[in-house]
Amino acid sequence: MATPIISINDLHAHVGQTVTLQAWLYDKTPKGKLIFLQARDGTGRCQCVMFKGDFDEATFEAAKALPQESSLTITGVVKADPRAPGVPGGFELGVKEIAIVQTSAEYPITPKEHGIEFLMDNRHLWIRSARQWALLRVRATVMRAIRSWLDGRGFLEMSTPILTPSAAEGTTNLFEVGYFDDKAYLAQTGQLYNEANIFAFGRVYCFGPTFRAEKSKTRRHLTEFWMVEPEIAFCDLDQLLEIEEQFVSHIVQTVLRENANELKTLDRDVSKLAHIAPPFPRITYDDAVAKLIEMQAGLRAGTPVLRHDGKPLEGIEDPALLDITWGMDFGAPHETALTQLCAKPVFVTGFPTAIKAFYMEPYPGRPEVCKSADLLAPEGYGEIIGGSERISDPARLEERIREHGLPMDPYRWYVDLRKYGSVPHSGFGLGVERTVTWICGTEHIREASPFPRLINRMYP
Ligand code: 4AD
Ligand code: MG
Repeated sequence: MATPIISINDLHAHVGQTVTLQAWLYDKTPKGKLIFLQARDGTGRCQCVMFKGDFDEATFEAAKALPQESSLTITGVVKADPRAPGVPGGFELGVKEIAIVQTSAEYPITPKEHGIEFLMDNRHLWIRSARQWALLRVRATVMRAIRSWLDGRGFLEMSTPILTPSAAEGTTNLFEVGYFDDKAYLAQTGQLYNEANIFAFGRVYCFGPTFRAEKSKTRRHLTEFWMVEPEIAFCDLDQLLEIEEQFVSHIVQTVLRENANELKTLDRDVSKLAHIAPPFPRITYDDAVAKLIEMQAGLRAGTPVLRHDGKPLEGIEDPALLDITWGMDFGAPHETALTQLCAKPVFVTGFPTAIKAFYMEPYPGRPEVCKSADLLAPEGYGEIIGGSERISDPARLEERIREHGLPMDPYRWYVDLRKYGSVPHSGFGLGVERTVTWICGTEHIREASPFPRLINRMYP
């Protein structure tokens, strides 16, 4: 019988058997008559042990000299050993045969420290490193959990255009592209099209890349990012928030279940994720502003408002960063402060109408605030979801388009939707990379995308 070719994460099912791995050399330690090879494939890392007595001199010496990232096929016997290092740990291969597919050229990324620009220049190679590998595996789980949750609840996936004639999330961060003799814009959102889709299909989502010409260099902004946008007919803001908290909890719990190894590689404190379950706390914008003013005063007076766990606030180097008056949008420091008050993600509802997108439904009797909700991830991570109830009345929508100084023509079809069986409807957008950054507990959003696009970077 031919030796089965298996992947490293299947080693547990082959203890005592002879198997073949198709792998790359991650690291190696020769020790006298033994060579410890750290092999990695797409699914994990595993220690493979060569014993001198089992090989001819040339093969053993060649293995000893093998450079990092050489590609190999390794055949050997699987041993269970709880002390064996690897991902998942606990299994080791006693090597019987080794074949070199290619001897790697000298690999630029070594176990020593490298600067971030160097690593980003080598992103095409950096993704092989343990932390990056773990982050991107979690990202894939997040994307799968997103689809499976929505698919299981009657949401239909609809593709929305990338080339669009108009702005939806403000005109300041639009990417303009030539469109024959005309111009077009890269989509900032698929939402407006999904609002058409719900009248045909009830509940839908789009899931794809979106583009924002973000001129700010922050650790939360990409110029190209992936967003999932569910949209639901006959749904008000309160119903929307219930969907959001279930959805986000499902994503987190799926990662905890399926990516324990990856989270360990990332040194993530999973106790900070285990309790993520509905309901999530809600705070109005009005109350959040009052809280921020109190937090700033506390920091200045040396009587700080404490975090939910009783510890002092982190990441607010200067109380002036918390400057705020009613009507201002939150910046990163405001979100960083607010999210430390709760152990779970927190909804901030009822933002000022003037600072939010034109399509959000104002509160009846208090039109200066709108039925919007941002979901802020804990531990200082901040906004991962923006959502709202949409304006359902055509006249009010036209009024808001005018107030925002937007041209009416490109939005004719959008206003039209409110004329033929308009209903209360709501939706939200969750940013994949922000969600992955939070779940993985990593610092900067650039690591949550395989090939991030940033204001100052398009290579590789
Ligand atoms: O709050 P935003 O702008 O909302 C919308 O685009 C709505 N049309 C969504 C909807 O209601 N269908 O963006 C939604 C989310 C943010 O909360 C954030 O997670 C992510 O998209 N996001 C970004 N992620 C990375 N880089 C950027 N520059 C981002 N801008 C938004
Ligand atoms: Mg937003």
